[in-house]
Amino acid sequence: MIKQAQQVALTAKDQTPAMPVESIGPDEHIAPAPRISIQAFCETVETAAAVQSAGEDRRLTKTHVKIQMGGATAAAEAYRGSPTPNVILIESDNRAQDILAGLDQLAEVCDSGTRVIVVGRINDVTLYRELTRRGVSDYLIAPVGTLDIVRSICGLFSAVDAKPVGRIIAVVGAKGGVGSSTVAHNVAWAIARDLSLDSVVTDLDLAFGTAGLDYNQDPPQSIADAVFSPDRVDTAFIDRLLSKCADHLSLLAAPATLDRVYDFSAEAFDSILDSLRTTIPVVVLDVPHQWAGWTKRLLVSADDILIVAGPDLANLRNAKNLVDFLRTARPNDHRPFYCLNQVGVPKRPEITPADFAKALEDDPLAIIPFEPQMFGTAANNGQMIAEVSANHKSAEMFRVLAQILTGRAEVKRSRGGLLSPLLSKFMKRQG
Ligand SMILES: Nc1ncnc2c1ncn2[C@@H]1O[C@H](COP(=O)(O)OP(=O)(O)OP(=O)(O)O)[C@@H](O)[C@H]1O
Ligand SMILES: [Mg+2]
Repeated sequence: MIKQAQQVALTAKDQTPAMPVESIGPDEHIAPAPRISIQAFCETVETAAAVQSAGEDRRLTKTHVKIQMGGATAAAEAYRGSPTPNVILIESDNRAQDILAGLDQLAEVCDSGTRVIVVGRINDVTLYRELTRRGVSDYLIAPVGTLDIVRSICGLFSAVDAKPVGRIIAVVGAKGGVGSSTVAHNVAWAIARDLSLDSVVTDLDLAFGTAGLDYNQDPPQSIADAVFSPDRVDTAFIDRLLSKCADHLSLLAAPATLDRVYDFSAEAFDSILDSLRTTIPVVVLDVPHQWAGWTKRLLVSADDILIVAGPDLANLRNAKNLVDFLRTARPNDHRPFYCLNQVGVPKRPEITPADFAKALEDDPLAIIPFEPQMFGTAANNGQMIAEVSANHKSAEMFRVLAQILTGRAEVKRSRGGLLSPLLSKFMKRQG
């Protein structure tokens, strides 16, 4: 433990007296923890419950979490004859002196690489200083919520000299053909061009993906090279598979060939995404409209999700099912976003945005009109909407979606119109 004095982040001031609000803010990004072992020695059932549910959070799925009761004494006892894990969390209900004595006892049996997080009830600067001196990595004031634990553990592995970790944004259609790829590609383009964030579009529709066509690229390599050679995957290998589409924007293309079939295991894309997120700030996943182990896993583990729906009944039902499923699977994240696309097809009876908002208990982030001329021209020319017409209202919507999905609060480009009230409502809700 004891050599990481520089790591101490005293999060006491972030704590609220009641159980904290269990949802992360739009601009907060908690990077997932690597494959580490964590052992908690709690004194109260409330803290044990918070650690338990933190262990079930998507950001800790790779970790092994074990929970015991008994605080520092039990920990010192447990490690007398066995190696310590990567992280030990100790809860102490005691006075400052007893907390420090417990830690000193633990220090005698603690391996030097092990990080220690302490949960206590005392908010006192002398105690903080002493904890820092002993190399405690983080001190949390009880009561702690699930996200406090997640934040603290993940923070140990993304802080200081750790590599920047990218945000993964998954875009999926509520039905086939609703324009989810079009939205994904245009939003990624806006993230790169307007926000100047390095982004990679990952086309996961291996057989039929259109990202190459949409960005007018025909790269010789594709994501198939990585997913069929998992042993070769590392940052340098993935880097060679990317093709540059614009400033700040690269593409990990689909092969779009039928010489193989594309049945994947649930974890098939894990190493590719882990590798991308170590170097790329924003990874936009173009997730095909399928429900398989791997698509489900990609959606559950993404940092943000955008569901694209058309204005009909099947889309409404499917979007609702997706939102309900993902809210249950991601209880500590804000709900998936959705937008409506291809709205206003002449003579077509449509379900209104208000009905969607009622059924999904949330407003769409954007209502993108059906514009066959504009979208058809862009698709056939291998261009983005903003390249065909920078001031088109759909281009403006993609810019606003880019801002929301990257957690940017500034919406200065928005010039009123349809999105502004929704956006301000969104910002209020999140704030
Ligand atoms: N708002 C729009 N107005 C008119 N056409 C659109 C609009 N959005 C998308 N399109 C067109 O709809 C077609 C389908 O789009 P796209 O391939 O993005 O859908 P998808 O949901 O990804 O489909 P798939 O299920 O095949 O992956 C494309 O020809 C695209 O240009
Ligand atoms: Mg698609």
